[in-house]
Amino acid sequence: SSIPVITIDGPSGVGKGTLAQYLVCKTGFHLLDSGAIYRALAYGAVKNEIALDDIPGLVALSTHLPVEFKATSILYEGADVTSKVRNEEIAAVASTVAAIPEVRAALLQRQKDFANLPGLVADGRDMGTVVFPSSPVKLYLTASAEIRAERRVKQLKNQGIDANIARITQDIKERDERDTGRKTAPLKPAADAIIIDTSDLDIQEVCQKAESLLWEKG
Ligand code: C5P
Repeated sequence: SSIPVITIDGPSGVGKGTLAQYLVCKTGFHLLDSGAIYRALAYGAVKNEIALDDIPGLVALSTHLPVEFKATSILYEGADVTSKVRNEEIAAVASTVAAIPEVRAALLQRQKDFANLPGLVADGRDMGTVVFPSSPVKLYLTASAEIRAERRVKQLKNQGIDANIARITQDIKERDERDTGRKTAPLKPAADAIIIDTSDLDIQEVCQKAESLLWEKG
């Protein structure tokens, strides 16, 4: 299609969400937070007591997933569930159900439908490889699990929450393994993606770097 899409893929805690917000502000494009769709599915599965190996049940929920986005909030059946889905428990369920090919297929068109004028910034794991493979601008962010865990611990400390670095590093590594190891739409850079290693960059530097790359690409 002729709608410009900027894809941002990478593992959890690498700064994709912040970069996506930054680019949305700069471009006025729409935002697709695809992880939030998988988190909403996980939330719905837990809420409706759908077993994580009940593929027909998960597909039925995916097909009519009652999720909506309003500003920075995630609504499920109209109720704000943003803080309920932004935790490692829901993330772990999300990455489990996200490994099911039938579930991904059921959610594909829903994600493509976010591409509307003037354009889209799409944040996820398979935005450049599967959902928007013809996007002209694909970014892939990386950083070691240890560095991402350190950042997460700092974030939590700022919120007054004491966190165990070893536990968080372990959670991140387990989720990385599930996301990169699955057969369908594994986390990996598209062949034509620009890879940004954020290990030695703060988030402002990541945004500046991405922005200058976009300028180069026109
Ligand atoms: O990005 P976020 O951490 O919110 O994603 C939660 C989980 O959803 C990921 O760990 C991944 O398993 C799954 N996901 C996915 N494909 C996407 C976005 C997220 O499989 N495009």
